[in-house]
Amino acid sequence: MSARLSRRISAISESATLAVDAKAKALKAAGRPVVVFGAGEPDFSTPQPIVEAAIAAARESGMHRYTPTAGLPGLKAAVVAKTKRDSGYEVDASQVLVTNGGKQALYNAFAALLDPGDEVLLPAPYWTTYPESIRLAGGVPVDVTTDESTGYLVDIAQLDAALTPRTKALVFVSPSNPTGAVYPPEQVAAIGRWAVEHGIWVVTDEIYEHLVYGDAEFSSMPVLVPELADTCIVVNGVAKTYAMTGWRVGWMLGPQDVVKAATNLQSHATSNVNNVAQRAAQFALEGDLSAVAQMRDAFDRRRQTMTRMLAEIPGVTCPEPLGAFYCYPAVKDLLGKQIRGRRAGSSAELADLLLDEAEVAVVPGEAFGTPGYLRLSYALGDDDLVEGVTRMQKLLGDAS
Ligand SMILES: Cc1ncc(COP(=O)(O)O)c(C=O)c1O
Repeated sequence: MSARLSRRISAISESATLAVDAKAKALKAAGRPVVVFGAGEPDFSTPQPIVEAAIAAARESGMHRYTPTAGLPGLKAAVVAKTKRDSGYEVDASQVLVTNGGKQALYNAFAALLDPGDEVLLPAPYWTTYPESIRLAGGVPVDVTTDESTGYLVDIAQLDAALTPRTKALVFVSPSNPTGAVYPPEQVAAIGRWAVEHGIWVVTDEIYEHLVYGDAEFSSMPVLVPELADTCIVVNGVAKTYAMTGWRVGWMLGPQDVVKAATNLQSHATSNVNNVAQRAAQFALEGDLSAVAQMRDAFDRRRQTMTRMLAEIPGVTCPEPLGAFYCYPAVKDLLGKQIRGRRAGSSAELADLLLDEAEVAVVPGEAFGTPGYLRLSYALGDDDLVEGVTRMQKLLGDAS
């Protein structure tokens, strides 16, 4: 008898970040004072003028109909202009496909590029959606594992070691979820040149481009390595920059043949992205970057508080995150120790213990391909942040 569900779909695991969020929310709903460090989204509301633009769009009858799969011409033009303004990358509107968030851009990209068995180099720790979307497209994710000793940055020697005749693509994400690492421009350029030299595609996720702190700077790989343009797909969206996670608007930029193929796929899967959300995104992109500047200031303050407080816990090592809104401390030294009468043998068990004993929700490193770590988002209010990390300090400070 055939299985009830397909092997392909049964193999997809539940998003660990969403699972932690759901568990924490259930506890909160039951009246528990849980501090949730699981969120992958800004805690700010979408700026009101963007919301007003959506309301105006909803009143236009043209917005009530199907529109071109690849996106409203106005939004595509805004994406072209915004890309040139923010990263310096110049593309034509025919190289833009508007998608339901950066997530669909990734699914489209891997589906368009990969044949069964094609290998994709995936620097780990990685965001959970990459391996799933690679596998669903028939590809094989090949982890290139980094750790806190290099600030979670991969180097060329590691890429060389992972390269095989089946390698088709490399995933590159800076600033990174879950580590907050930001590659210096020289290293971005070196990795881009390596990809060109070996004829490897790069899928580069620029969704956190505006969330960089201190002296760190964002750099776009195809701008630093123009020869990469014909074998590079850029993924981006409005979610993190404009606090628009729920609107579901992202895009992919790529060579015309890839964008055409991905558009064909999307035309059968989901068609055009919600028109009202597209118009809100267009308004956001055509405006200035003042809203993200304000969010960045708040995130920077919280980043420094969280990094300092985590580093005070014996057994926790936390490199300073330079981008996005996550800390990714190593907790290997705490595993196996006695903590309030219990022992956590893995970071997943430690995350459970933190939830049970301190009512603090974090995502274990297992979710990102590197056990022995925790991911904490600092996209939450300053007081909650201090309360949550203080509870962690108290609980983990007792480890013996
Ligand atoms: C690295 C990275 N890329 C893409 C996304 C997806 O964003 P979207 O909401 O636009 O699908 C996320 C969301 O968490 C992310 O962390």
